[in-house]
Amino acid sequence: MNLAVVILAAGQGSRMQSAVPKVLHPLANRPLLSHVITAARQLQPAQIIIVYGHTGNLVRSEFSDTDLIWVEQAAQLGTGHAVQQALPALSNDIERVLVLYGDVPLIRSVTLEALLASSTDGFGLLTLSLDNPTGYGRIQRNSESGQVLGIIEQKDASVAELAIQEVNTGIMALPALHLSDWLGRLSNQNSQGEYYLTDIVAMAVQEGFDIQVTQPRQPIEAAGVNDRQQLATLERALQQQRAADLMLAGVTLKDPQRFDLRGELQHGQDCCIDNNVILEGTVCLGDRVRIGANTVLRNVQIGNDVTILENCVIEEATIGSESCIGPFARIRPGTVLAKAARVGNFVEIKQSQIGAGSKINHLAYVGNSEVGQGANLGAGTITCNYDGANKHKTIIGDDVFVGSNSALVAPITLGKGATIGAGSVITQNIPAGALSLTRGKPMHIPDWQRPTKNKP
Ligand code: UD1
Ligand code: CA
Repeated sequence: MNLAVVILAAGQGSRMQSAVPKVLHPLANRPLLSHVITAARQLQPAQIIIVYGHTGNLVRSEFSDTDLIWVEQAAQLGTGHAVQQALPALSNDIERVLVLYGDVPLIRSVTLEALLASSTDGFGLLTLSLDNPTGYGRIQRNSESGQVLGIIEQKDASVAELAIQEVNTGIMALPALHLSDWLGRLSNQNSQGEYYLTDIVAMAVQEGFDIQVTQPRQPIEAAGVNDRQQLATLERALQQQRAADLMLAGVTLKDPQRFDLRGELQHGQDCCIDNNVILEGTVCLGDRVRIGANTVLRNVQIGNDVTILENCVIEEATIGSESCIGPFARIRPGTVLAKAARVGNFVEIKQSQIGAGSKINHLAYVGNSEVGQGANLGAGTITCNYDGANKHKTIIGDDVFVGSNSALVAPITLGKGATIGAGSVITQNIPAGALSLTRGKPMHIPDWQRPTKNKP
């Protein structure tokens, strides 16, 4: 069965009140359209054709996949007209056409597979039965046989038809051979002056097709995004699904309502994630990782038995097993912590390697540095890595002790076991084992008189 998927994405999305085309608005950090393309790809179709509208170049440039076929619908004359624009792009050997909407992002490939399987050489419709069917096209059936006869749009429906609760999701599987004929015969003599794709259902019935109906397992799969409220509803639905899957797979989420996975999570056993944690990109957790509340992890690899305390931001970094980070730490791209490192509050680390067991416990900035094992950088240690034009490297050997409030002016190397006295500004390399300090001579003025307030 040679399948083409046609994704309708030409609608303006005016209710989004946005300069950004609707299908580019992100759901879990990915454009709406990208979710639909992913579902389509899982069906391994011969072609994916996307019908785009006037903001098409913006949409196209978001997708680098070279196999997508883009077709412009210059004026939005209706869903039937939109599918018609895709016909010239169909290969000759395409037997079936599956129509999806670019703004219906939660559709699952299992549902689409069921729709295709139920209607192998015919016409399949994905429908929903809703308590409140307002706004949707209604499915008309023969009252005795139950056979589908057609679809009537809300705006064209009689009072009796409006009472029908079975609605068209818009997703359909169509026989390619007949499409050109049916679409060519569509008229726009209806209340919206549009060429309705839905009108081809009655044509197919006339020609003897038995329309096969499938329903999705969850109604949310067929939910569209028209405004930002609906976008937020779908975001929550997707996040709840992801949270449920993770809990079933053995991850503890303190509150699944307050968890956001906007990317991919790989995890070991017995990880525990506290409230308001946001994971983006690809995040890998080892076994027994604990993540404190209000933490953001973006493209991070975390080893076994790591504890991340509350309010940390960690990005493009690797955290060695048994390390402990936070609270209030910021780990920036290019940072690698070895085993059992300790990074405490108000510490920023960028583009640095931190050796096993080293501690940077309070109020420090470490950038473009290599820190050995067992080193201790005191509170207020700053690597001065930038001279206003270039970045320079700081190398701190094993077992170095840097006293509080010291500035290490790069490029610089502190030899193994060196000690830096508190409050020093170090501008020269320090040999292994040495003590180095810079300090003004202490000065004492006895019986010092403080100034007194002037009389008015
Ligand atoms: C359509 C269906 C309706 C169904 C509903 C489900 C028709 C005539 N009606 O109505 O039966 O219940 O979807 O949500 O098909 N689009 C284009 N070009 C156009 C018009 C639309 O690409 O000229 C795209 C839109 O971007 C959108 C989709 O097609 O992704 C549906 O369009 P929309 O205007 O939302 O259709 P509805 O009136 O809601
Ligand atoms: Ca719609």
